[in-house]
Amino acid sequence: MTELKFPENFLWGGATAANQYEGAYNVDGKGLSVQDVTPKGGFGPITDRPTPDNMKLEGIDFYHRYKEDIALFAEMGFKTYRTSIAWTRIFPNGDETEPNEAGLQFYDDLFDELAKYGIEPLITLSHYETPLHLAREYDGWVNRKMIGFYENYVRTVFTRYKDKVKYWLTFNEINSIIHAPFMSGGIATAPDKLSKSDLYQAVHHELVASALATKIGHEINPDFQIGCMVLAMPTYPLTAHPDDVIAAMEAERQNYFFSDVHVRGAYPGYMKRYFRENGIVLDITPEDEEILKNTVDFISFSYYMSSTETADESKKVKGAGNILGGVMNPYLEASEWGWQIDPKGLRIVLNDFWDRYQKSLFIVENGLGAVDQLVEGEDGQMTVNDDYRIKYLNDHLVQVAEAIADGVEVMGYTTWGCIDLVSASTAELKKRYGFIYVDRHDDGSGTLKRYKKKSFNWYKEVIATNGESL
Ligand code: BG6
Repeated sequence: MTELKFPENFLWGGATAANQYEGAYNVDGKGLSVQDVTPKGGFGPITDRPTPDNMKLEGIDFYHRYKEDIALFAEMGFKTYRTSIAWTRIFPNGDETEPNEAGLQFYDDLFDELAKYGIEPLITLSHYETPLHLAREYDGWVNRKMIGFYENYVRTVFTRYKDKVKYWLTFNEINSIIHAPFMSGGIATAPDKLSKSDLYQAVHHELVASALATKIGHEINPDFQIGCMVLAMPTYPLTAHPDDVIAAMEAERQNYFFSDVHVRGAYPGYMKRYFRENGIVLDITPEDEEILKNTVDFISFSYYMSSTETADESKKVKGAGNILGGVMNPYLEASEWGWQIDPKGLRIVLNDFWDRYQKSLFIVENGLGAVDQLVEGEDGQMTVNDDYRIKYLNDHLVQVAEAIADGVEVMGYTTWGCIDLVSASTAELKKRYGFIYVDRHDDGSGTLKRYKKKSFNWYKEVIATNGESL
């Protein structure tokens, strides 16, 4: 039995994203983002303008309740807190030259509040929140001009918060653009009309922008720690047949490609082959190649599930996934949303990244989306007996400890949706991840009152004992 050991300075915490919980979508000069016109989530229809059925418009009203919520995070003992800056609070349309002061002030206040409790902010610069104007006018990241707009935005926030924020992530789940081009890349062209060359050109622009952010950030404050953020999904071959092993390898490379460029500063040979064989022609300038050499300080990733691949078309029964699909694994159980639960996959992915790069790793999303029931607890307070969530998180953290015992350097772990928020893929509130229950429902009803779930005290204990209670 492995002794569960986490490093002394391990960054325990929780994660959120502005568009899924702030609400206040049109307050204090904020512009519209792609989220404000996708009421059914990242894969649903796009509306002309914000519609009342869009849960994200009000979110959980963190914008006005952040002090109360941060106090609860502090009570759990968070060492770090991951959230994103809504680009549209800073540059409402995205292509302005001057920022919106009210937006900047909000994040100043938020970071000051975290500092009060000694909580280290971990800030995503772009979490599925591309300004809608940039999507509609420029077709999002397909357009090279996006690099300049993003540069202006990150330079502004790096400069403003250079003494308040040390840990930064450039793009949330950067590899998800392949599967969700509008939500992830602000690409307005419909997926069935989007050519592969345009899609990978958008990828290239994001990769250049990410490397440029790393360069600029280090110039502004050499102490900044800037990471990439990828959706991690270890992919197993369905059988031992070599064709299945190759199918799994190729599926993994579609994801590894993103971290390879971020860590190694150049395109891998297998991707050049993929471009060649798929008629994908990209505009990659010598200046771009120079910029890409600005590699990241660490690798962060989300982990919810593993995936399975086969070369046998007849066996391809697609699994439900948060963004990447995959084939169902017969050995695993799934969540209520069909996401296959695989704690050991987290140990595998940590080891794979470590063996590949020897760069520090940060798990910045992991958690179970489930339907919760608010009930009266023994102490008379309303609560949720979420033993299923405790089990999910406990099992995954045990595997993190296993990976640490394997020699992997892990900087920290932030659970996804530490407070209930609106789902990215389906825009539902009934898919809850939090330690804190928020009384708001998909029909818009609810008081927005916060309640501690059973997992709240469980996580508090995990942090207080630095993982020994697991
Ligand atoms: C990740 C995203 O894909 O998974 C988050 O970075 C998202 O934004 C999380 O919320 C969970 O997915 P969902 O669809 O259950 O909200």
